[in-house]
Amino acid sequence: MSVSELKRRRTFAVISHPDAGKTTLTEKLLLFSGAIQIAGTVKGRKSNRYATSDWMEIEKQRGISVASSVMQFEYGDCVINLLDTPGHEDFSEDTYRVLTAVDAAVMVIDGANGVEAQTLKLLEVCRSRKTPIVTFINKLDREVREPLDLLDEIEQHLGVSAVPFTWPIGMGKEFQGVYDIQNDQVRVFRAGQDTLGGAVETIQALGDEEGERRFGHAWVRAKEEIDLITGATPTFDRDEFLAGQQSPVLFGSAINNFGVKEILDALVDLAPPPSARLTVQRPVQPDEPKFTGVVFKVQANMDLAHRDRVAFIRVCSGRFERGMALKVTRNNKTFRANNVVTFLSQRRETVSEAYAGDIIGIPNHGTLSLGDTLTEGEQLQFVGLPFFAPEIFQTVEVVDPMRSKQLGEALKQLGEEGAIQVFKPVVGGLTILGAVGQLQFEVVSHRLSTEYKVDVRMAPARYRMSRWVTCDDAAELRRFCDSYSPRIAYDAADAPTYLASHISEIEVAQKAWPKIVFNELREHSGAPFRKAM
Ligand code: G4P
Repeated sequence: MSVSELKRRRTFAVISHPDAGKTTLTEKLLLFSGAIQIAGTVKGRKSNRYATSDWMEIEKQRGISVASSVMQFEYGDCVINLLDTPGHEDFSEDTYRVLTAVDAAVMVIDGANGVEAQTLKLLEVCRSRKTPIVTFINKLDREVREPLDLLDEIEQHLGVSAVPFTWPIGMGKEFQGVYDIQNDQVRVFRAGQDTLGGAVETIQALGDEEGERRFGHAWVRAKEEIDLITGATPTFDRDEFLAGQQSPVLFGSAINNFGVKEILDALVDLAPPPSARLTVQRPVQPDEPKFTGVVFKVQANMDLAHRDRVAFIRVCSGRFERGMALKVTRNNKTFRANNVVTFLSQRRETVSEAYAGDIIGIPNHGTLSLGDTLTEGEQLQFVGLPFFAPEIFQTVEVVDPMRSKQLGEALKQLGEEGAIQVFKPVVGGLTILGAVGQLQFEVVSHRLSTEYKVDVRMAPARYRMSRWVTCDDAAELRRFCDSYSPRIAYDAADAPTYLASHISEIEVAQKAWPKIVFNELREHSGAPFRKAM
């Protein structure tokens, strides 16, 4: 494949605690790059601010958010893929899975609130994957915390070393701009000024006297602080950044377009192009000629008449062409990818092809499940797409027994979509749903009723935890599943799961069956997460 196409790809997500400014920043990034022309085009889900019912109404418009959940645009010589992440913590599993599809992330921190709970969680995921992070401290046009304290907090709580690239001159009403430390340049802030066209005033190598005359005490203070941190923080090291250990920090105000260009520049200059990805069989290099991809997200289309779903695929290697034959390695089935959604808004001619790092959407009726690997024929299974052992369990029962079959089909689809985890007990009993957050049950119940016309009753199950059971010795796994059959259930990918009410039950089972592995995480649906037949 073309090396230049590969090198110019940047694929990233914006992560933040709700309300820190993710939606605002996303919109400004798109405006800045010319991908959209009018503010207000990007609809943030803002689910955190709504009651459940409102949230569902918003979800009803998902036709819109399918398009806005991946945005591709060009900036400079680069093709940038920006992936949306759900804001509400009950959907954190979705967010984790989206993060497996990116090569870098922009972390937005509300300067008044500092590091918040959700930021912390998301950053842990990024760190475990060694995802490079660019930090943007937002809302400098308001009274925010002391910048030195904010840096300290990032280092303490997030465990990355923060290297300021810019430094604020004042804040709130007194916010006057930022000093670009590396380039010895001041970028002047003017409230309400539209800096989209790059109209921001810059001053090169401003002397101290001149600085004080122009910006007053805020300048003196900023310089003192910069002196202080220059001695205390390490110099920027790109390798450490690429390993997720160092994060460049930029200050600004998303709503004022201030600091947005610097983020794009940092992504283009510092963030990595697509790199190798692991499969069960071997690492896959992005410049391999053959196409490979992984389904990291499945979103039901709200077009009830067609009931299709869009599978979002991260291209991992090679070049995708519309109409090519692709093999789903989970079941060896081949299909032709004729109907494909791509997300580049500016360049028509590239719409029918995609390269490593890009995201393509394939509408389908159940051919593609979350975690599936697509290849031109090779038997590969990408790893790393997490399913977490749920923390809340409910039984689900159809109100009208005549709709049982529809319930089964609907749950199969919702399970494959990853909206909720579905466990079918081996021995009779009701289907059990497992979730990370309560809101997931409410959304599933609502969707069952509106999309599938199946009304259900849900009730707390007696289980509190589950573990995916695996074993190198298939016969041993079968014996285990037989012995514990009342507690064994199969999930949407047919992986056997052990259900428990208390951790001690898992510990006892583990002692009695030392060869069985009790997994809290399932990273794919290939072996060893297979049915013990
Ligand atoms: P989220 O996606 O992370 O949840 O945050 P979002 O962008 O929706 O921003 C949350 C609130 O913070 C919004 O205000 C937004 O206008 C505001 N905001 C974002 N960036 C800045 C900034 O640089 N400075 C200031 N002062 N505010 C900022 P809202 O009143 O809750 O919503 P809206 O009515 O403005 O849409």
